[in-house]
Amino acid sequence: MSTPGAGAGTPLRDPGPRDIALRDGRHVTLRTIRPDDAQALRQAFDRLSSEARYTRFMAPLKQLPVDMLERAVNPAAGQEVALVAVAANDAGGETIVAGARYIADAHNEGAEFAVTVADEWQGLGLATALLRELIRRGRAQGLRFIDGFVLARNRAMLECAKRVGFEIVTDSGDPGTLRVRFELRPE
Ligand SMILES: CC(C)(COP(=O)(O)OP(=O)(O)OC[C@H]1O[C@@H](n2cnc3c(N)ncnc32)[C@H](O)[C@@H]1OP(=O)(O)O)[C@@H](O)C(=O)NCCC(=O)NCCS
Repeated sequence: MSTPGAGAGTPLRDPGPRDIALRDGRHVTLRTIRPDDAQALRQAFDRLSSEARYTRFMAPLKQLPVDMLERAVNPAAGQEVALVAVAANDAGGETIVAGARYIADAHNEGAEFAVTVADEWQGLGLATALLRELIRRGRAQGLRFIDGFVLARNRAMLECAKRVGFEIVTDSGDPGTLRVRFELRPE
């Protein structure tokens, strides 16, 4: 079957940075991650609570391993999309306050997402905005679905995903984990 959208391995056109208004009136910029975000991303990880780290990585990660950091800021063109939300900081730079990514399978059929919002920036609509942007990019890439694996106790992620239009599918293979899916186009 022919695939609408960019197709496997074809780098997407980057739509460029976008301003997002949060629920509390603050604004952040949503953009594609860059290699020079490495230090800011490490700092964002270091500020995360241990609960946020656990629910994101499903493991008690104390530090972000160098290879994960490298990969995080150098997503594979045409297969991975990685976004950050950044806020202007007092030093005249940018602080990463949230990030989301997906990685598509080798056939460009589906992708798996993950999203993280800094603890003090949660509940303001950031994950919702990031997931909607991933869906837009996934559609442009011609994906059929985007999945996510979420701890069954992670109410915040499950509620957020449901509001965006994800459905819970139960076959994650692990009773403590649920799979959520957003269908971009029917089979
Ligand atoms: C899960 C997470 C990404 C949600 O991010 P967020 O920016 O706070 O989510 P949003 O503000 O977009 O919230 C959207 C909806 O989610 C729900 N929600 C958010 N936080 C919630 C909480 N603590 N408890 C229950 N529901 C919650 C609400 O329904 C909210 O809708 P509302 O508009 O009615 O308030 C964030 O809590 C996080 O980063 N957690 C740690 C990492 C993680 O769990 N990642 C997911 C792994 S895939």
